[in-house]
Amino acid sequence: MNNGFQRHRRLRRSESMRALVRETVLRKEDLIYPLFIVEGENVKQEVGSMPGVHHYSLDRLHEELDEIVGLGIQSIIVFGVPQHKDEKGSSAYADDGIVQKSITYVKENYPQLTVIADTCLCQYTDHGHCGVIHNGDVLNDESLALLAETAVSQAKAGADIIAPSNMMDGFVAAIRAGLDEAGYHDVPIMSYAVKYASSFYGPFRDAAHSTPQFGDRRTYQMDPSNRMEAIREAQSDYEEGADFLMVKPALAYLDIMRELKDRFPLPLVAYNVSGEYAMIKAVAMNGWVDEQAIVMEKLTSMKRAGADLIITYFAKDAARYIDKN
Ligand code: PBG
Repeated sequence: MNNGFQRHRRLRRSESMRALVRETVLRKEDLIYPLFIVEGENVKQEVGSMPGVHHYSLDRLHEELDEIVGLGIQSIIVFGVPQHKDEKGSSAYADDGIVQKSITYVKENYPQLTVIADTCLCQYTDHGHCGVIHNGDVLNDESLALLAETAVSQAKAGADIIAPSNMMDGFVAAIRAGLDEAGYHDVPIMSYAVKYASSFYGPFRDAAHSTPQFGDRRTYQMDPSNRMEAIREAQSDYEEGADFLMVKPALAYLDIMRELKDRFPLPLVAYNVSGEYAMIKAVAMNGWVDEQAIVMEKLTSMKRAGADLIITYFAKDAARYIDKN
């Protein structure tokens, strides 16, 4: 030490010096792009609250997939938006369901992509909850069998990873048992281990038509005020055999990401959700911030907080920015 202080600025003197000491770097391999696939034909429709994100029907999905592959993105997560909804979400686990057909299509035509299937019932139930209902309650154990059935049907369709987002207790154990029994020992589970009852999901629910028709999700998704509960949730999924842990949403929960990264030796996934995307798009469209700079800063902050992978509607933009630099 000289003059009683340290010269931190020594390591910031030039771009190459800064690059030399950069601790966190966002790679294209870290990005997972969400896709919404609807039934019907010739559909490419922008989601109102998510500029730049579209619904596609299967016959036009190649337009999106060609772009993704061209940009060097290697993983997608698929959400089905079915026409038919019923009490038990039966099109979630139908062999000819929209997600099953989409997964098979992608794996046949773009075998290089890793396809992650979101495993939940809320887009498929007429009441919009993530499990089955009795007298206004979301039943836990009765929902597990249907979730396992959904996961198996997705694996059968060719899904590379199963990502259960329903927040029923014991879903990892139930899905692992279901997959193993059906012979899918090698299909990993990316658990939405820590999923908060967040207001940041609003635009997604428009996109996926999955708004609960009564009540809310607070009996199964977590209270945003809680940190210790996140550790308990992650602990059970770890013990039940999850291969990845996820924290969702991302930006308001970076502290939780760090906590999980320090405690559990599993790949950690951040879900940069729809409302987080919509907020940045809205300010950028007003010209109030530099979109590229803000997007890269935010995604980098998630990695710095401990995320290894990021599910983000910004994946295509980020891939372009990475190419530019
Ligand atoms: C389904 C599910 C949701 C999201 C991903 N999977 C919505 C919810 O729980 O209401 C939200 C994703 C986003 O907001 O981008 N359970």
